[in-house]
Amino acid sequence: MRGRTFGFSQRFLLSQVTPLAGSWRQSRPSSRFPSRPAIAAAAGRMESSAADASRSRGPGTIPKVSKIQSVIGQDSQGGWERCWEEGLTPWDLGKPTPLIAHLVQTGDLPLGRALVPGCGSGHDVVAMAGPERHVVGVDISVSAIQKACEMTSALPNKEHFTFLAEDFFAWQPTELFDLIFDYTFFCAIDPSMRSAWADRIGDLLKPDGELITLMYPMDEFDGGPPYAVSVSDYEEVLHSLGFKAISVVDNELAIAPRKGREKVGRWKRKSPQAHM
Ligand SMILES: C[S@@+](CC[C@H](N)C(=O)[O-])C[C@H]1O[C@@H](n2cnc3c(N)ncnc32)[C@H](O)[C@@H]1O
Repeated sequence: MRGRTFGFSQRFLLSQVTPLAGSWRQSRPSSRFPSRPAIAAAAGRMESSAADASRSRGPGTIPKVSKIQSVIGQDSQGGWERCWEEGLTPWDLGKPTPLIAHLVQTGDLPLGRALVPGCGSGHDVVAMAGPERHVVGVDISVSAIQKACEMTSALPNKEHFTFLAEDFFAWQPTELFDLIFDYTFFCAIDPSMRSAWADRIGDLLKPDGELITLMYPMDEFDGGPPYAVSVSDYEEVLHSLGFKAISVVDNELAIAPRKGREKVGRWKRKSPQAHM
């Protein structure tokens, strides 16, 4: 597929939350729902029901997720496009993940050029973008990228982000990145592609650049997508390329349905001196 950039035409509703947001697979019920905003609570109640159902019947029993697994299983590349065309996007929070908003607010995110692979409709891309950080969102689905462009056309920071319809594994950008942020892309690709994912991260990141992985879902189950992930899954493919975790912590800012199932990993290449 040839990459395309897209123009802008519609407004972006940051507050919209899709009914199954967060239940990209299934979740355990959360006792914290009452303290969340009403809309999140409503989404959470649906999550809890889905979780109860999935615990008793196993993974993939949430209708939308089962459908996604079937669509991707039939066609691993074109399947993503079909999911976007048919609105099979239960992973889409309809807003940036709170961790990103927090890191931007606290100035704890590298400046320069940032990349979000598998960006979907681009909420995190937009949240990260500003005069000091240009963010490129890449997704293999033309429909996802069109949606991202349409929703963000009127935003005041639109000069500071770019959306590209590209295959992350084949794309050849002309400049490297200071930051790569992966959220629910690693878990979406087939596990056999994880080494290739790490190679691409290594190729696209500047030598002193930082990789931030928001690791989800930290569960144990077979099958996917999403495929279950663990910290060691990341270590397995990143350590051999010289990446080392600066920190791995629970994501206290995860949305309610994903609480306890996300970890934040911050990775950098070991400096040459570290080998001496
Ligand atoms: C689970 S979704 C996550 C989207 C977004 N990160 C989010 O959190 O809402 C995974 C995304 O990866 C995209 N994708 C899958 N394979 C890809 C590839 N080879 N290159 C780029 N994007 C890809 C899909 O189209 C989909 O939008």
